Amino acid sequence: TFERKVIITAILVMGLFVFALFYALGARKADVTECLPYNKTYETARVEQLDKTTYQIFYVARMWSFEPSVAYIPVGSEVDLFVTSHDVVHGFNVYDKNVNMMAVPGGVSKTTVHFDHPGVYKIVCHEFCGTGHQNMQAEIIVN
Ligand code: CUA
Repeated sequence: TFERKVIITAILVMGLFVFALFYALGARKADVTECLPYNKTYETARVEQLDKTTYQIFYVARMWSFEPSVAYIPVGSEVDLFVTSHDVVHGFNVYDKNVNMMAVPGGVSKTTVHFDHPGVYKIVCHEFCGTGHQNMQAEIIVN
């Protein structure tokens, strides 16, 4: 019947979506943004080195800046980016890196990025957050 065809088509399309997600995660090594509960460890913005090529940057967004405003990372590093907000919802977009997160008060967004090329990677807020929104930016300097 027609209904049966619609149901089977819907199931096939869902299966394709699930396949595409796992394909992106596995074969393409895409990193899906995680949302973590907020805790005290995120109160201080900082850069932490875990080992020679692994870093973590804990960003705090607030009207109208990111902390740390500049972070230095050696080329070839893998970096976990964490971001939270201490006031309103902000955006967190890293140019050239396909990173697009929200900075939410009471929550922490996390993603992982590989910096294989030297350069200055601009971070901008892409969520309107008040009169200083367009000045809200930071940099990751990779060298
Ligand atoms: Cu923060 Cu726009």
